Amino acid sequence: MIVTPRTEEEIELLRENGLIVSKTLAEVGKAVAPGVTTKELDRIAETFIRDHGAVPNFLGYEGYPASICASVNDCVVHGFPSDYVLKEGDIVSIDLGTLLKGYNGDSAYTFPVGEVDAETRKLLAVTKQSLFEGIKAAVVGKRTGDIGHAVQSYAESFGFGVVRELEGHGIGTDMHEKPGVPNYGRPGHGVKLVDGMTICIEPMITAGDRSVYVARNGWAIHTEDHKNAAHYELTVVVRNGKAELLSNYDYIEDGYNVKF
Ligand code: MF3
Ligand code: CO
Repeated sequence: MIVTPRTEEEIELLRENGLIVSKTLAEVGKAVAPGVTTKELDRIAETFIRDHGAVPNFLGYEGYPASICASVNDCVVHGFPSDYVLKEGDIVSIDLGTLLKGYNGDSAYTFPVGEVDAETRKLLAVTKQSLFEGIKAAVVGKRTGDIGHAVQSYAESFGFGVVRELEGHGIGTDMHEKPGVPNYGRPGHGVKLVDGMTICIEPMITAGDRSVYVARNGWAIHTEDHKNAAHYELTVVVRNGKAELLSNYDYIEDGYNVKF
């Protein structure tokens, strides 16, 4: 498969989206606390995105009913914001995106709610680092299988599970474009990475078994064993030697002071 790389002008528009997404995640992160509902987090995100001149691209996407996915504990991804009240010890993956000037943004971060136990802190730290291991492999000359292999070998070395049913993706004028970017794979296999290719890498990692099922609402993905799962996602552009980040966690980790 040949994927057309983005022009520098297009990459700048994706970067504008990535910036709003990064700031929105930080804004939501500041509000994550025991006693807050995930619907309140959705409202904060939607307001912030619109105040910055963008549109929440999840809202209405294939009928999706909200601006964010808020996936708590054993929910891996695509949790609907609800009246569920976050409590101390929960974890919540916030996934959100924007549409601005015809281009998309899409990133996610799993936040601890108050203090979480040591095993869960490790799940968060390892999942986040597995994303950065994947990003290290997102360079010209490598293939999507190298990204997947980097994520998988890192996460599995800690005994965690790698969800196979969902994957990262290209991003541009559509939120989901080719190529698919699996979180597992074999080095040297898959789609060739070229300069200017813009992709979202998004490991979904489980504390226990990697098996998942789709909830009756047709969207939310849960672990079969109901153990926790974490999810982090960034948008990057493939370059020679080192990928460039189009979204980042700097705003989150400066403002929110996440401890793990
Ligand atoms: N952001 C998700 C992804 O990373 C997609 C969310 S689906 C939506 O691919 F319907 F909620 F938008
Ligand atoms: Co995505």
